[in-house]
Amino acid sequence: MALNYDDLPKLVLPTIPDLHKLDVYRQHGGYEAYRKALTMSPEDVIEEVKKSGLRGRGGACFPTGLKWSFMPKGSDKPKYLCINGDESEPGSFKDRQIFEYNPHLMIEGILIAGYAMGITTAFIYIRGEYHKWVRLVEQAAQDAYDAGLIGERMKETFGGDYSLEIVVHKGAGAYICGEESSLMESLEGKRPYPRIKPPFPAQKGLWGMPTTINNVETLACVPVILRIGGDEYAKIGAPGHPGTILLGVSGHVNKPGVYEVPTGLPLLDIINDLAGGVPGGKKIKMVIPGGSSMPPLRGDELERVNMDADSIKEAGSYIGTAGVMVMDEDTDIPHVLRRTIHFYHHESCGQCTPCREGCGWLEKMLIRVDEGDATSEDLDLLIDVANNIDGNTICALGEAAAWPTRYTIERLREEFEKNVKKEREHTPLNIVHGLRTDSHEVESVVH
Ligand SMILES: Cc1cc2nc3c(=O)[nH]c(=O)nc-3n(C[C@H](O)[C@H](O)[C@H](O)COP(=O)(O)O)c2cc1C
Ligand code: SF4
Repeated sequence: MALNYDDLPKLVLPTIPDLHKLDVYRQHGGYEAYRKALTMSPEDVIEEVKKSGLRGRGGACFPTGLKWSFMPKGSDKPKYLCINGDESEPGSFKDRQIFEYNPHLMIEGILIAGYAMGITTAFIYIRGEYHKWVRLVEQAAQDAYDAGLIGERMKETFGGDYSLEIVVHKGAGAYICGEESSLMESLEGKRPYPRIKPPFPAQKGLWGMPTTINNVETLACVPVILRIGGDEYAKIGAPGHPGTILLGVSGHVNKPGVYEVPTGLPLLDIINDLAGGVPGGKKIKMVIPGGSSMPPLRGDELERVNMDADSIKEAGSYIGTAGVMVMDEDTDIPHVLRRTIHFYHHESCGQCTPCREGCGWLEKMLIRVDEGDATSEDLDLLIDVANNIDGNTICALGEAAAWPTRYTIERLREEFEKNVKKEREHTPLNIVHGLRTDSHEVESVVH
């Protein structure tokens, strides 16, 4: 049976007009989950989040409750929470929906996280160019301050002795600033060079103090967990990766947009039923399931793939930021890879040699492939260079360039051989917009 979007649970982006306004959010039970958290001990709040099975939505799927439990207890050092809203991975555009349509859910999640870990200052880090969303989040935070929901006055509002300050920080406008340790460097006012780990942020984070970094969507899931209970939350979606997830579906689909779905739904149903299928009824050549840094899947191998971390891993990729990029049968795959690697080469911070030089070599070779000047051996050389980047760098940007290169060439080698043998018919542009049926604004998907 076809999926009907209206029938699916919406926990993070419910269809409530004006939910971004504080009064509307409160009319719908807003900030009551935090009130409930205050009736529990901080340890019990962390246990509840562990029970829910929530895994981080920032890309690595790390269990959130476990991450929180790493924060030292009983220390008199300041502790910090960083909320990662850098969202610069190509194909990923879901956190901005929370900023725009349900910012108080994230703020309430921050309060709960802060209480659970004994944190007194939280920094919401938003990519520099996202002026609109910076403004919206600043407004939401100001409204919450004015209502005594954040800051010193929250002690009066909620009782007890806990209070938290929230700072909205406009980032430096770089993809690398989303890597958690360079985000902290950037917040400290430095050049965003990722740090060598260990020490991990819970040991030595922002200004050397214990710090937790969480994605925007991760924190927005937390009030829901407190409201319905960890056990109930764990029953939603795929058991190994429970809850709902925001999918940013883009590329060759009729209805691109952000879709909130329970984890574990079939990827093809998401593409065909929710995102309206491929324009012109064309076949799918390739899907990148989790943002451009993730290994691609072949279009003819999607039959049993579900949108949850375990199923995508079994299929040979990772769910990453759940940015589902769909490419139809007419897509020039070598050109896509060239464009992707141009991005990672440009965004490499240059700190470590395999990434700095390797990304440059990959790009140079991919230009040759794209322009029909490469040999079949060059394709093997590309894989070799990618393998030498993978695992040999300070941060995962190295893998973000290596994985698409290696897996796209390995899995769709015939596409590259066409270029090598000069058999590709170059079409100037694979136009999608004019072909879309039933196309709509992204906004109408989530409202
Ligand atoms: C190059 C790079 C860019 C990243 N960008 C982001 C980002 O924009 N947002 C994000 O939440 N995580 C990003 N991450 C992952 C973070 O380092 C970190 O794992 C995440 O914020 C943790 O949050 P979570 O546990 O709630 O998922 C990035 C990682 C790398 C290596
Ligand atoms: S892997 Fe790349 S982005 Fe990451 S620290 Fe090294 S040079 Fe910088």
